[in-house]
Amino acid sequence: MQYKTLGRTALRVSVIGLGTMVHGGHFGPMKDEESLAAIDTALELGVNFIDTSDAYGAGYSETLLGNALKGRRDKVILATKGGNVMVGPNKGKRIFAPEYIDDVLHGSLKRLQTDWIDLYQLHNPDVEVIERGEVWEVLEKRKKEGKIRHYGVSINTMAEGIAAAKGGRAETIQVEYSLLQQEPAEEIFPLAQAANVGIIARLPLKRGILTGKLTQTDEQRFQGEDVRARSFKGEAFAKELAKAEKLRFLVHGPVKTLGQAALAFCVAHPAASIAIPGARNAQQMRENAAAGDVTLPPEDLAKVAELWRSGFAA
Ligand SMILES: NC(=O)c1ccc[n+]([C@@H]2O[C@H](COP(=O)([O-])OP(=O)(O)OC[C@H]3O[C@@H](n4cnc5c(N)ncnc54)[C@H](OP(=O)(O)O)[C@@H]3O)[C@@H](O)[C@H]2O)c1
Repeated sequence: MQYKTLGRTALRVSVIGLGTMVHGGHFGPMKDEESLAAIDTALELGVNFIDTSDAYGAGYSETLLGNALKGRRDKVILATKGGNVMVGPNKGKRIFAPEYIDDVLHGSLKRLQTDWIDLYQLHNPDVEVIERGEVWEVLEKRKKEGKIRHYGVSINTMAEGIAAAKGGRAETIQVEYSLLQQEPAEEIFPLAQAANVGIIARLPLKRGILTGKLTQTDEQRFQGEDVRARSFKGEAFAKELAKAEKLRFLVHGPVKTLGQAALAFCVAHPAASIAIPGARNAQQMRENAAAGDVTLPPEDLAKVAELWRSGFAA
């Protein structure tokens, strides 16, 4: 496993982490024993960064992690998020009022059964909050107390990423970045590098498309609350699958699967310290962790850049 420094947090993170949205049941039903096996396997293989949120399974992912990490909390750099309301009358809203974030931050500490959170992230705030939110003062206060060690943002749009990189408050930016979503490298990464803001690449496997295992018929599987139910449909899904097919040339030598190529691609960029694929079980975790020892050759990266320029971006 290779390790990189996460911007000015100075945390040394494994280049492959574990995202735990899947463990909150957002990719179809989960079994606890599979989630726990994925977490155990991650730690065994040198993965030292786990990302969660109070929104995943409305807190369930944090509860599961709190139980799983008993007695070995110090082995993990634990990142969580707050601001996406999943329960009560405000369900579906995003709230970044200082008192709300302070409240949910303490809820996360409790569910995670820990005295400190290594990285607390605002979960998709808008530009206004990123640039002028009073919430930053609360985060600074809790940092001084040692309840959180660092703070950052998870963002959706390029404008939010640019604001976060320029704004000076966030120590890290979590952003969708993958072979199929390379805009952040053009618009956010140079600014983040200049300000020494750490980059965490989320959805590095494009929710499974970049594992190469999905076909059009899989769309019938994605139903109800599954996050793929809305977007993995019809022509848009077909287009993404066709792009993934064009990337199979990356699988050769030490790169055994398209998924490993996709993960290695993310952390090949000097600005990106870590990719956080969701792994639903031990086997997926093993395959993903193995990407932490893989380096894509420069000629393959050049071909990827050419594909991006010649239409992948559309
Ligand atoms: N707004 C935000 O802040 C935000 C939003 C989204 C995600 N995130 C974070 O980013 C993390 C990663 O994103 P994600 O989980 O949505 O997407 P992802 O990592 O791109 O895809 C995860 C899915 O791909 C499949 N997969 C993973 N490893 C595999 C392997 N080795 N072989 C075959 N299939 C594999 C699994 O689905 P199946 O087994 O069902 O096929 C898994 O649930 C999340 O867990 C979360 O921590 C943050």
